[in-house]
Amino acid sequence: MPLTKPKIMTVYGTRPEAIKVAPVVTALQADDRFDSVVVSTGQHREMLEQVNQRFGIVPDYDMALMKPGQSLNEIVSRALSGLHPIIMEEQPDVVISQGDTSTAMTAALAGFHCGARVVHLEAGLRTGDIHSPFPEEANRKIIGQVTSLHLAPTQESRENLRRENIRSRDIVVTGNTVIDALLAASKWQVHFDDPRLAALTETDEKVVLVTTHRRENLEAMAEIGGAVQDLAMSYPQHVFALPLHLNPRVRNAVMPQVEVLPNVIITDPLPYDQFTALMNRSYLVLTDSGGVQEEAPSLGKPVLVMRENTERPEAVVAGTVKLVGTDRERIVAEAKNLLSHEAAYKAMANAVNPYGDGQAADRAVAAIAQLTGVGERIEEFEPQLLEPTSVG
Ligand code: UD1
Ligand code: UDP
Repeated sequence: MPLTKPKIMTVYGTRPEAIKVAPVVTALQADDRFDSVVVSTGQHREMLEQVNQRFGIVPDYDMALMKPGQSLNEIVSRALSGLHPIIMEEQPDVVISQGDTSTAMTAALAGFHCGARVVHLEAGLRTGDIHSPFPEEANRKIIGQVTSLHLAPTQESRENLRRENIRSRDIVVTGNTVIDALLAASKWQVHFDDPRLAALTETDEKVVLVTTHRRENLEAMAEIGGAVQDLAMSYPQHVFALPLHLNPRVRNAVMPQVEVLPNVIITDPLPYDQFTALMNRSYLVLTDSGGVQEEAPSLGKPVLVMRENTERPEAVVAGTVKLVGTDRERIVAEAKNLLSHEAAYKAMANAVNPYGDGQAADRAVAAIAQLTGVGERIEEFEPQLLEPTSVG
């Protein structure tokens, strides 16, 4: 056993990272074997604060990096120079980086430069196309190069790492911590602040949930907005709910096409508990989000992914997720097929949990304990058929 407790620094900066590190931070803080330090780059502001509040996480450092319309290079250079003095001050043994954002890539690099061991949570996701998602595929590959311990969510992600010659003993299959967070959410009492969403809990209208934000989709976002417009006009009896990302480029492309339609509900980003409850209330999900692709299948909701490829093939193979690209007519045709044909809908509406069983944070912490010499790994994640989760 080391004489002093290993210091584990968790760095995050955007909404999905906050959701996915929350179960790990909570587990580390409750574990006497470690000193835990939490650093927020603040790449996101309001959208991050919503998650911190819900999970009760107060970062020890907040770099407050968010500035409207920053370039990727600006985010990365400000994050790198801001992280350096914090890492030098804290001297962590381990830096945890989650996923594939600019914050994640920078945290891994800054930790590596300062001699910490890098642990990558959600390691090994790949599309094989360096330009899609942009810049996330490149970020993941860069992080992989400086990582000591790769916490892969699934066997498929482990295989991707093995194909890049990462040693087997440096990879642990944990499941994705997003499912730990979703299971935590399933125990919360949820109240919708927006009266239009609250009213949906009293009716049985079909709800189509739509989210979009991907950088490589910004050009195509008017197509996505147009598809929602066509669908909302074709199905006036259904409700289309769009919690819109705060990026003005997303809002400017999507809102003008749909905001006047009576059966479209546009909101600001929803707090995580309200968003997962809305997902649970939905009939169908249209999205380009990574996290939503992982959550919706375990709620038994069919997902049409508005992208050309995905680094999350597991639910596509299971039949709950379908890639439909960003062409307006294709999105409309695929959604109409599910909204108008019950057999097609039922074939996709199977609850599957290829991404986790709620124990991913425990496996991650055990693997970090082994890496730092204070414990042993536990059994890896094996997907199995589980009861669908229910939220709200
Ligand atoms: C980032 C990540 C992406 C992740 C997404 C999750 C990178 C390169 N991209 O993309 O991988 O899927 O977060 O949502 O790291 N904004 C606010 N308030 C907020 C957050 C964002 O106003 O709380 C606005 C700002 O105008 C900001 C813009 O959204 O400039 C874009 O934010 P940014 O972090 O650059 O990229 P995302 O598209 O959010
Ligand atoms: N989410 C949320 N409120 C919203 C929309 C999404 O809390 O209004 C959650 C969602 O449950 C998922 C995560 O945010 O866990 C996904 O974030 P996003 O789509 O921004 O990023 P990605 O996963 O694509 O990186």
